Amino acid sequence: MLVAGARPNFMKIAPVQRAIERTGIQTTLVHTGQHYDDRMSASFFRDLAIREPEHHLGVGSASHAVQTARVMEAFEPVLLGERPDWVIVPGDVNSTLACALVCVKLKEATGVRLAHLEAGLRSNDWRMPEEVNRVLTDRCSDLLLIPSWDAAANLAAEAIDERRVAFVGNVMIDTLFDRLPAARAVALPSRMGLETGKFVVATLHRPSNVDHPPTLETCLAGLAAIAAHAPVVLPLHPRTRKQVATFGLDRLLAPLRIIEPLGYVEMLSLTEAAAAAVTDSGGVQEETTVLGVPCVTLREQTERPVTVEQGTNRLAPWPLTAEGILRETSVAIAEGRIGVGTRAPEGWDGHASERVVDAISRRMSAGTD
Ligand code: UD1
Repeated sequence: MLVAGARPNFMKIAPVQRAIERTGIQTTLVHTGQHYDDRMSASFFRDLAIREPEHHLGVGSASHAVQTARVMEAFEPVLLGERPDWVIVPGDVNSTLACALVCVKLKEATGVRLAHLEAGLRSNDWRMPEEVNRVLTDRCSDLLLIPSWDAAANLAAEAIDERRVAFVGNVMIDTLFDRLPAARAVALPSRMGLETGKFVVATLHRPSNVDHPPTLETCLAGLAAIAAHAPVVLPLHPRTRKQVATFGLDRLLAPLRIIEPLGYVEMLSLTEAAAAAVTDSGGVQEETTVLGVPCVTLREQTERPVTVEQGTNRLAPWPLTAEGILRETSVAIAEGRIGVGTRAPEGWDGHASERVVDAISRRMSAGTD
């Protein structure tokens, strides 16, 4: 049983579901409904050719407690009805932790085992909801599937038994390589009148950046400063759109090319052709690393250090200022694009899902954890 809830989950489960089914093992897909707009959810199912989920929990948006509780309440009967051998939860969103908690509490009764896809990442910032979700999901999991070796060190530091850990690489990059030809074919930049290597793509949605008026203002002012030199395209996340309106910051959007959230293929098309990305997304840090596009991350730290050490990512100077964002982006653009796959970390090779299947199959044939 695979669980998906929010936008960043879909590109992780798509290749894993296909790889499992190629072996003849059946899968069931559960969509929690944490994300529900066409542009945040259904468009990804179309772009990634994920089949309709067998179970749709329809939880929607709510406070953290309510959203997590609703997923738990709705997921428990699904698990009891289907009785899967394994549940795979990806990433670090509220749906990930909610389903992990349901599994661990039913382990004795049902024998279900839990695999966490993208285990072991740590920002060490306990104020981030994702960090809480990651740490607790890892603690509940029987099998921790790690995307990079820094994750092994993080788990060892938490005294997690290394026999529960398996290095698989980055499944999101399986999706990237699979969809890159389609992304090139849609050629979104030229349809938008943008020239390859001559524009910046930006994303912004972290609560720490968009929920506090001065920080959101700084981020948008930084993007506006960049826009004086090159077009800045900002597909606007619904959370950010809401906060811009609430805080009365609409004027700061004027210098930017604001568009609706993009589907996977169109976003990949835009990112591959950009001079640089400016982002607070974990996925964009990883994708730009493999695409060889410079990336400036608007965060104090990253749970994906391999994107800085080996990839093309850099952290904007902290605390964020508009000038700092502009300066770091200018340096990133000057360093230049280095081409797809030039600096991909180990296991970010398009074959991570096969290693996920191997890791789970080994545990299944061993019969114990
Ligand atoms: C969630 C994840 C975050 C991930 C992000 C990707 C958690 C704690 N956070 O944050 O890790 O990076 O998804 O997008 O799980 N909304 C819509 N339509 C939708 C979904 C949301 O309009 O389809 C709006 C609602 O007003 C909602 C707000 O966006 O209240 C925030 O959505 P939510 O799922 O709570 O968190 P994200 O900020 O999307």
